[in-house]
Amino acid sequence: MTKNKNNQTIWGTRIKNSTSSQFQKVGGSIDIDKRLYKEDIAGSIAHVEMLFKQKIISFKIKNKIIFGLNKIEKEISNKKFEFNKKYEDIHMNIENRLFQIIGEEAGYVHTARSRNDQVITDFKIWIRSTNKEIHNLIDKIIKNSLKLAEKNIDTIMPGFTHMKNAQPISFAHYLMAYVEMFNRDKKRFSNNLDSLNENPLGVAALSGTSFNIDRNYTTKKLGFKMPTNNSIDTVSDRDFVIDFLYSVSVCSMHISRIAEELIIWNSDGFNLINLSNKIVTGSSIMPQKKNPDLLEYLRGKSGIAYGNLFSMLTILKGLPLSYFKDLQDDKEIIFKSSDVFINCLKIFDEVLKNISPNKKRMIELANSGYITATDLADYFVRNHSMSFRKAYQKTAAIVNLAEKKKKNLNELTIDEFKKIDPKISNDVLKVFDLKNSVNSKKSYGGTSFDNIKKMIMKYKKQI
Ligand code: ARG
Repeated sequence: MTKNKNNQTIWGTRIKNSTSSQFQKVGGSIDIDKRLYKEDIAGSIAHVEMLFKQKIISFKIKNKIIFGLNKIEKEISNKKFEFNKKYEDIHMNIENRLFQIIGEEAGYVHTARSRNDQVITDFKIWIRSTNKEIHNLIDKIIKNSLKLAEKNIDTIMPGFTHMKNAQPISFAHYLMAYVEMFNRDKKRFSNNLDSLNENPLGVAALSGTSFNIDRNYTTKKLGFKMPTNNSIDTVSDRDFVIDFLYSVSVCSMHISRIAEELIIWNSDGFNLINLSNKIVTGSSIMPQKKNPDLLEYLRGKSGIAYGNLFSMLTILKGLPLSYFKDLQDDKEIIFKSSDVFINCLKIFDEVLKNISPNKKRMIELANSGYITATDLADYFVRNHSMSFRKAYQKTAAIVNLAEKKKKNLNELTIDEFKKIDPKISNDVLKVFDLKNSVNSKKSYGGTSFDNIKKMIMKYKKQI
């Protein structure tokens, strides 16, 4: 097992007995934070390079330490490294192994540093690269949404409020609504970079260090933008964890809403979209079934994201400054959230490539529920110089009449229209044309074909 020269833990001189085996079982975090090994080694290398530059350690010691750290990185990458729970976490496991490889000089690596700043440094670097990965995955989703939208600019469907037919829209406009959501998600993740770009390394346990270190140097080496300002805040702060978990939660919520919508649209009652065989599963008893399990998976997973956000908020609530063991759980929470979330992003991207609109059914449904009633009211305002409220009443009377006659609005005869308003002429009929209705919504952000095309162009350029 990896133990230092005296075969004891780092604090073995002070604490003679070994930690209770019960606590050893649960108090360590190596099973979880070993994922941070690359970041930890990069952090340590930057740290010793800085110590050498500042003449705090010698050239020889610096090189020895870097040699040892590189060897350890290879061992871990090649699965040749034996992690030991006794050394709690990734930092102590690596340090112990460093002692074995290079001997007593390994003891210089922890000059002017504490695990408190070390762990946040590793963690911030890890979240920063995960943030980039998420960014790329969201970009892929936006691209595929744009592709689908481009093919469906003139695919007309009912737009809903309260799940009731409201006004006709283009399917592409719907997809572009998703693009807006994902674009906001991207911005949310980008905003998190501000705090992730502040370098914690060098604040040591909580008060800074008496060594003449250069935090700007490690800042540059590790790709941060600036050092953090206050040593106490630095080791206590997990706002960047909350920010990440919140951003994951909001994006998961978006995916969950879309998934739910697609499940409804795919239901036999609605039948507005088709899912390819790639994204459905069968039933063990009902041979006819093609279930949207993947979408249900996506809908459900937002629960895990919210739960993790609340775990972290609760851990931090009432926690005094600065470091406490309570904080160790932050990594398990983030890893779980990010693993589940990244899977969701990949699955949702698959979904986008495997759905197609059932155009015939979309039109059929859009032709029910007096969906062009608002267009008729607008027609009265425009052509009969009427206030909108007056026009609303007149239109409602026409809808009542159509309902009584069991007809659609466009099936009423001109004489029936004239019963409600004698001034109505034949040209009213064109307001019931669905395409016409969709295309008339030319106000900025509306569903007209031109608007959609412009939006698609705008996002295509952006990506
Ligand atoms: N594994 C620890 C964590 O993740 C590292 C920090 C330990 N610091 C300490 N003072 N015990 O929180």
